[in-house]
Amino acid sequence: MRRWFACIILAKEGDENLSLLEIKPGIYWVGAVDWNLRYFHGYLTPRGTSYNAYLVVDDQITLVDTVKNYLFDEMLARLKEVVDPTQIDCLVVNHVEMDHSGSVPEMMRLAPRARVVTSTRGQKGLQRYFKGNADWSYKIVNSGDKLQTGKYTLNFVHTPMVHWPDSMVTYVPEARLLLPNDAFGQHIASYQRFDDELGWDVVHEEAAKYYANIVLPYGKQVGKALEALDGLDIDMIAPSHGVIWRSHLSDILNEYKKWASHKTEEKALIVYDTMWGSTQKIALALKEGLEAAGLPVVIKFLQTSHISEIMTDILTSKAVLIGSPTLNNGMLPTVSAFLTYLKGLKPQNRMGLAFGSYGWGGQGAKEVASMIDSLGWEMPLDPINIPYLPDPEELEQVRKTGQKMGETVKASE
Ligand code: FEO
Repeated sequence: MRRWFACIILAKEGDENLSLLEIKPGIYWVGAVDWNLRYFHGYLTPRGTSYNAYLVVDDQITLVDTVKNYLFDEMLARLKEVVDPTQIDCLVVNHVEMDHSGSVPEMMRLAPRARVVTSTRGQKGLQRYFKGNADWSYKIVNSGDKLQTGKYTLNFVHTPMVHWPDSMVTYVPEARLLLPNDAFGQHIASYQRFDDELGWDVVHEEAAKYYANIVLPYGKQVGKALEALDGLDIDMIAPSHGVIWRSHLSDILNEYKKWASHKTEEKALIVYDTMWGSTQKIALALKEGLEAAGLPVVIKFLQTSHISEIMTDILTSKAVLIGSPTLNNGMLPTVSAFLTYLKGLKPQNRMGLAFGSYGWGGQGAKEVASMIDSLGWEMPLDPINIPYLPDPEELEQVRKTGQKMGETVKASE
C-alpha cells in the first residue's frame, strides 16, 4: 500500500483537470502537461509531453526545476495550492534547457528571497539565456555537494551530457527519491503520473523512443551516470518528462544499462525510399532473405515513417539495411535526412548494408554505403546497386544476400 501517494484533486471552477500530487511526504509534483506538443527539435511526439517540476516543502522550501515558459501559469497554480511562492527559499536548476528552466525568471520574480542552486555550467547557461535578467543569488553545487532543507537532504550529482554539459541530478536519500531531470524521461502527456498507471508497454516504448532520439549519443556518459547512481537506495525515479517510475525501476535501469552499452538484439531493420518501386523490390527481397536466415525484420518506408520513429527500431536492431535510388547524382533527400539524423545520434556496434537502384551513375547506394562507413559500423557485404528494374534472377541474388546478412548477424552473436 503506497499510503503517501495520495492524489489531491483540486476542483476549481472551469479547471477541473488541474491536479497536483504528493509523491513523497512533503514532496509534490507541480509540473505542467503539454497536451499539444507534437514536435520536439526534430522528434515527433504524438503523445505530447509533460514538464515535471517538484516542490519540496520543508524548513527550506525548494522547487526542483520549472516548466516551459508558456505553461508557467499551470505550474504556478499547482504550486500555490501548497505554498505561497514568496516563501520559496531555493530553486534547483538541474538543467538549463528551456523546457525546464524557461520559467525560472518568472519564478524568481515571485520568490525574491530564493537562491538558484545549480552547477557552474548551469549558472553560465542561465546568464546567457536570460542576459541582464539573471542577476540572482546563486549557490553553485558540485558533484557530491548536499543541501539540507530540513528533514530532507538534496544530494547533487553532475551528469554531464545527460542531456547537456550542465545537467545534474538531485537525490533525496530520506525519501529514496531520484530526480534525474531528462534521464529516464518519456514524452507522454497524460493524467496518469506513474508508470504502473499507464503500463510498462506504453511507458517502455516511449522511454525507448526518448532514449533513441535524445540520449543515444551519450552512452558513455550514461554509463558513468549509472555507475554514480549505483548503490543508492532508490524506490522512485521522478524524471522531468512523462510518468514517474515507482514499479518498473529495475526494468528501466536494466534497459538504460543495455542501451548505454549499445547492446542490440538479433533483429534486422530495413529503411528505404523508392522512386519507381525498384528499391522497394530490393528491400522486400532482402526481407525474405533475412527471414529465411531466421532473423525478425522490421521494414520502414521513409515516405510513411518519420525518422524519429525509426530510431526506436535502430536502438535494438543489430542489422540495419538502408536503401536509396539515385536522384541527381546522389541519394534521395529523405534518405539523406534520415542518415544525417542517424549520424548525429551515433548508434554503435551495428552491421550495415547499403542498397539501391539507378538509371545511370548509381551514386545513391554508394553515398549510403559511405555514410554507413562513417558511422563505424561493420559492413560484411558489398552494397547492392541494380540498374533500372531488378529481374527475377537479380531478386533471387538479393534474397541470397539478405540470407547471408542474416546468417552473418546470427554468427556474430
Ligand atoms: Fe528536457 Fe534537455 O531538456
